Amino acid sequence: MSSVMTNMHPVLRRCWHPIARSTEVTQQPLRSVLMGVAYVLWRGSDGVLVAFEDRCPHRRAPLSLGTCDGGQLQCAYHGWTFDQTGQCVTIPALGLDAALPPKAHLTSPHRVAESHGMVFIAPEEPLTTLPSVEEAGDASFMLGDLPVLRVRGCAALYADNFLDMAHFPFVHRGTFGAHEAAEVPRYDVVREGFSTRVTFEHEFANREDPGVEQGIRPLIQRRRLTYRWDAPFHLALRIDFLDAGGTNTIGFYLCPEDAETVRIYSSLYRDDLDGDELRMKEAVDFEIAVIEEDLRVQTAYERLEIPLDITTELHTRADRTTLEFRRVLMDLVKAAG
Ligand code: FES
Ligand SMILES: [Fe+2]
Repeated sequence: MSSVMTNMHPVLRRCWHPIARSTEVTQQPLRSVLMGVAYVLWRGSDGVLVAFEDRCPHRRAPLSLGTCDGGQLQCAYHGWTFDQTGQCVTIPALGLDAALPPKAHLTSPHRVAESHGMVFIAPEEPLTTLPSVEEAGDASFMLGDLPVLRVRGCAALYADNFLDMAHFPFVHRGTFGAHEAAEVPRYDVVREGFSTRVTFEHEFANREDPGVEQGIRPLIQRRRLTYRWDAPFHLALRIDFLDAGGTNTIGFYLCPEDAETVRIYSSLYRDDLDGDELRMKEAVDFEIAVIEEDLRVQTAYERLEIPLDITTELHTRADRTTLEFRRVLMDLVKAAG
């Protein structure tokens, strides 16, 4: 196994990756690429999720060019038709009663599953568990999906950036960073298998709380930040406002599309908006502006990789989370043997 983590590192084939939003998968074929392999996804007649490699066994045409009818997919090139188990059921050029070649079967990924409104694929036997998001199943939270961003970069670097706590006053000066303290508080890292959680509380100036202007609460308030990440690239930051009340969670789910491309699926979960769609739209637009600030740095990396030898980079006590992230990636590589 190579000593740098890239989008195409072989160990990633043994992990779960988000490849589409559940709402994107309909009864017509959808193409989605993960680690350089294209998949075709559709819903069978019973709504069941179907996923195969996007390659017809006949002449390798992309099946996603085809059409579905009654849960069956017909290839656009010569009309071979496949049922939702991937078995070829018709070859028009042979006539109706012809015997079909036994190998006329589509290739499945090892596993496909849905969780919190996302579709996940594990190309090979996964070492990690299927990620979930507790807020997604909680009716008190409103959901705001960001548009899917498709950008140059390395999924490991984007995940590293999401977990990084020391860049806010610099990268995010134009959005929320100007008022953030540069000093990173001390915190503990709790790890269970390939899932990690970091929680700490600190004081901050709550400039968005109307209670401050009304004199109900002081400007300086407490908040609890909880970072959760499931290896390799499934992350969330939960912010609990301990004085003003309310919880904001940012989900950040990364798909390593190919050697140089990442798709960023990000969703906001808020329990403090009273169902107000306009405020959710404002929150989504703000989050897009925050991500654009990160993209300026992340898309500019020349080498799209993270060294797994931790002596290659310098780490300080403020980098404990991102150092742990590197250890988790190394442990994954070790677990794969
Ligand atoms: S390539 Fe698909 S039917 Fe020929
Ligand atoms: Fe950032």
